[in-house]
Amino acid sequence: MRTQVAIIGSGPSGLLLGQLLTEAGIDNVILDRVGKDYILGRVRAGVLEEGTVRLLDEAKSSTRLHAEGLPHDGFSLAFDGRDHRIDLHGLTGGKRVVIYGQTEMTRDLMERREECGAPTIYGANNVQPHGFNSDTPYLTYEKDGISHRIDCDFIAGCDGFHGVSRKSVPKKAVRSFEKVYPFGWLGVLAEVVPVNHELIYANHPRGFALCSMRSMTRSRYYIQCPLDEKVEDWSDDRFWDELRRRLPAHHAEALVTASSFEKSIAPLRSFVAEPMRFGRLFLVGDAAHIVPPTGAKGLNLAASDVHYLFSGLAEHYQDRSNAGLEVYSARALARVWKAVRFSWWMTTMMHRFPDTSDFDQKIQEAELDYLIHSRAASTALAENYVGLPF
Ligand code: APR
Ligand code: PHB
Repeated sequence: MRTQVAIIGSGPSGLLLGQLLTEAGIDNVILDRVGKDYILGRVRAGVLEEGTVRLLDEAKSSTRLHAEGLPHDGFSLAFDGRDHRIDLHGLTGGKRVVIYGQTEMTRDLMERREECGAPTIYGANNVQPHGFNSDTPYLTYEKDGISHRIDCDFIAGCDGFHGVSRKSVPKKAVRSFEKVYPFGWLGVLAEVVPVNHELIYANHPRGFALCSMRSMTRSRYYIQCPLDEKVEDWSDDRFWDELRRRLPAHHAEALVTASSFEKSIAPLRSFVAEPMRFGRLFLVGDAAHIVPPTGAKGLNLAASDVHYLFSGLAEHYQDRSNAGLEVYSARALARVWKAVRFSWWMTTMMHRFPDTSDFDQKIQEAELDYLIHSRAASTALAENYVGLPF
């Protein structure tokens, strides 16, 4: 088989890139190790920046997003028993974010891809990129016990943090930067009306809490927990009690609870691999970087990578210029590092660290107090939250 761009990974990065290429008439094949239902079963954050929405428009995959997504003009920062609204819209000159589950976005992209008849190979085992330092790269994989080969012009490694793309580059060619945080997030999904019409990020002596949502009838809540905590030890009642304790009283009283239908613990880490291009192999999204979920930047960074790579590929095929591909890594990383910094900063400001001293605690409180009383500081927060331009 031959294609122009072979894409490893059918998560948001691979699907969005694939759809932009397909709409531009550039042939592509997506391969994923797992199946469609498995991919659609993954629960992930759902805060879309306007730039991400724009790309979904370009990919002609945004009809349901515009009908069902919830535009949010602000969010709440809660600490010291109080609640302060960050007016994203007012502070950024009219920008907002849209709440729409990543699973839904993935489903929309998959459906559009099927409508276009673009090929996806699910259940592709042992995918391996080859020859990406030459002009004739190719992928090999196995399916149902048979070995296959796909020749291509370029390989897009959209295969997430644990994927094969980054691992197939010689170790000495990659520089990694990593920070692992000493806590996790215990998250639940429940079919209940959200406690607030906007998200609440809460700093509390017992640990961070986040009140988010998927729709006006489905809520997503998180609490910071130690890394060695087991999901089985968290009954729904224990979770709701702990969440209530970490919220200002008026929210705690308003919280509607029910049985949860998803409960999991996720570790938090910051990770960046440099560069993001190795000859004709490009790393995109989680394959190149991970951010902690505070600030919801993961998906939006994947989208900006896709934008830079797509414009480079379009230039290559339409204008016979490699200029955009040459600068892909530098352009993507410049934006990645700013989002990595923002996610690290929000994480540091909002969580209780095991070694937090009284001094550290006071500094955190002073920072939050400054943040809500200084228009300049609130604006910096808002500008990053709605997404830096790309
Ligand atoms: N071969 C083929 N496919 C693979 C392989 C492999 N060796 N390894 C991983 N994959 C597939 C996974 O099954 C998954 O479907 O690659 C896909 C990667 O998808 P994601 O992990 O969702 O990564 P990405 O598309 O970059 O998504 C970025 O998702 O993880 C969140 O926080 C992240 O929101 C961000 C967004
Ligand atoms: C979520 O809805 O899952 C979510 C929202 C905002 C975040 C992280 C996760 O910062």
